Amino acid sequence: MSQLNSSPHDMTDKRVVITGGGSGIGADMALGFANAGARVTIVGRRREALEAVAAKQAGIEIRVADVTNEAAVVGLFATLGKVDVVVANAGAAESAPLEKTELDQWQRMLDVNLTGVFLTLREGLKHLDSGGRLLAVASTAGLKGYAYVGAYCAAKHGVVGLVRALAQETAQRGITVNALCPGFTETPLLEASIDSIVDKTGRNAEQARAHFTRTNPTGRLIQPADVTATALWLCSPGSEAITGQALSISGGEI
Ligand SMILES: NC(=O)c1ccc[n+]([C@@H]2O[C@H](COP(=O)([O-])OP(=O)(O)OC[C@H]3O[C@@H](n4cnc5c(N)ncnc54)[C@H](OP(=O)(O)O)[C@@H]3O)[C@@H](O)[C@H]2O)c1
Repeated sequence: MSQLNSSPHDMTDKRVVITGGGSGIGADMALGFANAGARVTIVGRRREALEAVAAKQAGIEIRVADVTNEAAVVGLFATLGKVDVVVANAGAAESAPLEKTELDQWQRMLDVNLTGVFLTLREGLKHLDSGGRLLAVASTAGLKGYAYVGAYCAAKHGVVGLVRALAQETAQRGITVNALCPGFTETPLLEASIDSIVDKTGRNAEQARAHFTRTNPTGRLIQPADVTATALWLCSPGSEAITGQALSISGGEI
């Protein structure tokens, strides 16, 4: 069950694809959409992680694919057929001061966080009916700068630009395209960032966690269910006029 226990949204028979659905935000979204009646396909590289999510609730099927691989993403959507909602959520965060950012790290960040979103939205759009919904999980790092994550920020700003441009192309077809921009969210990705701060700075885990919590004016980390609730709303009747937006889900951080 999603952290979002009861859903006011009805997604009965909607076909939903969520990349990065084996953990964190994507896993919570998968459970939230399935709980609302959708037929959900979750995508990622680690089969076991996907299977563990699918085992929690009926209505979730898995596909193993790397979103940075064009042929894999093309093949994925070709086998799925028509879909109603596509969520480009897969992503990763690595940190380094810009002067120490190697080209391969820069490229990795752009590949998964920007090119992966491009491929997912492009192929998803080809299989989307009128009235469909495209979502990209960007970040507050797509709206503002944070130190030591220049490549990640650049990629996430790119996602916001892509969403704004694509929304102009799809508006006449009744397809909305929006970016979700969570602040620091309690997921395995954030845990890895905390471990990295502990390794690199000698701070303890509690101090590292407080560093992230402090950025949120409400004094807490964002929960995956906060993001799921926004995604469900953007896929429900009444949200048709909202497109090309980057929605900050950050307790007022930005
Ligand atoms: N946590 C935060 O503070 C935060 C804040 C703002 C935005 N976000 C964004 O939210 C999204 C989800 O992150 P999360 O926090 O939920 O972290 P997470 O638990 O690490 O989830 C990331 C997911 O993406 C998948 N993934 C990574 N590379 C992939 C690839 N090349 N192909 C297919 N799947 C891939 C991973 O699965 P596999 O390893 O099995 O492929 C994993 O399930 C990301 O885009 C992230 O940038 C996170």
